[in-house]
Amino acid sequence: MSESLDLAAFPADFTWGTATSAYQIEGAVAEDGRAPSIWDTFSHTPGRIDNDDHGDVACDHYHRWPEDIALMKRLGAGAYRLSVAWPRVLPGGDGPVNAAGLDFYDRLVDGLLDAGITPNVTLYHWDLPQALQDRGGWTVRETAEHLADYASVVAGRLGDRVTQWATLNEPLCSGWIGHLEGRMAPGLTDLTAAVRASYHLLLAHGLATRAVRAAVPGAQVGLVTNHSTVEAASTRPEDIAAATRMDGHTNRWWLDPVYGRGFPGDMRELYGVDLPERPGDLDTIAAPLDWHGLNYYFPATVTDDPRGPVPYAREVRLPDAPRTGMDWQIDAGGLEALLLRLTDEYGVRKLYVTENGSAFADTVSPDGAVHDPDRARYLEQHVSACARAVRKGAPLAGYYAWSLLDNFEWAYGYDKRFGLVHVDYATQVRTVKTSGLRYAEIIRAHGESRA
Ligand code: FCB
Repeated sequence: MSESLDLAAFPADFTWGTATSAYQIEGAVAEDGRAPSIWDTFSHTPGRIDNDDHGDVACDHYHRWPEDIALMKRLGAGAYRLSVAWPRVLPGGDGPVNAAGLDFYDRLVDGLLDAGITPNVTLYHWDLPQALQDRGGWTVRETAEHLADYASVVAGRLGDRVTQWATLNEPLCSGWIGHLEGRMAPGLTDLTAAVRASYHLLLAHGLATRAVRAAVPGAQVGLVTNHSTVEAASTRPEDIAAATRMDGHTNRWWLDPVYGRGFPGDMRELYGVDLPERPGDLDTIAAPLDWHGLNYYFPATVTDDPRGPVPYAREVRLPDAPRTGMDWQIDAGGLEALLLRLTDEYGVRKLYVTENGSAFADTVSPDGAVHDPDRARYLEQHVSACARAVRKGAPLAGYYAWSLLDNFEWAYGYDKRFGLVHVDYATQVRTVKTSGLRYAEIIRAHGESRA
């Protein structure tokens, strides 16, 4: 155990968890009445995903979930962040409920509770029913209303056992990467569509918050957003302005409206797209939350790029900075800074790190073990950053490592491995990596330090 870990900083009831999402692990895409989502369509479009991988089988978690719960137990994790697949529950997006789809999550939740693991359920982790995409997807308001109806169905079924709920995972990725950059489903590159989608995603969050609370008295409802710290590449005024724009695009656009400040004026002007606002929407979007979930992976350093895409700020590569197998810069200080920003600038009163982790090219050694010291180090550095943030006043209540398992890493397919547990996709054999053992050790040591 590294001596630098200040585990005593964390409260005794601190949550240690792991996270996954439905499309990345479940497989069984055509079973028990599930209909396609935009990710089935996107991943089966040649050239969209590295190696043309798709989630048809993934980790086969749909069938192997009892084994996966046993792995969580082995790690000693007390919580599990999962997502529900909308197209399993409402294959048409709206309309009839598919009982078999809901039953799966019912069994999973019971299995978790039996194992003493608290489920934290995300309603939307990017797998929009294709049927709704065909009717306009996130560019139309109806999709936000459908998400709220779907939230009522899921919360109505699981709410007697699940108290921790998240509405959306990373609306930035759905909005910007899915509709502006085109690297994620539905694969559009259209600023107007992207801005409208971002608006409807945040509206959906607000409507779903209300729906979950109506269905589950005492529900703890949060939103999960991903952020990066943004630095200017130089002291040139152009670069400083670029950093302000990138901060608006990556951080303020997704936080200001949720925390009652409305959509940032500088970004509205920059995008130049009318928002599909109706009276009352901003209040809906700004419904007070029980907690905020921060997903953190990397920082950004940017330079002015007047001829580039919105927001006219280009990331520059710092030559000596350490990087993961995703080529993402490693900077645990960014996690500390963002936790403190959410606390101090946005007044968040309860925080979770809902995702944090790293991909590296792992191999199974002849002795059968997976030695991944880089991932273990990344984990330790970021847990330390959390401890520093707590010492400085961040109301951090838990940390969920991304991810329990190696899984379908979206546009990168199966090549990028984020798991604390290695998955051999040919055999579906799971092997706890050294980083998983280290996480177990951290969890145990924290428990002992507070016993
Ligand atoms: C986040 C996603 C998650 C996973 C990690 C690596 O953006 O929420 O599903 O892919 O990145």
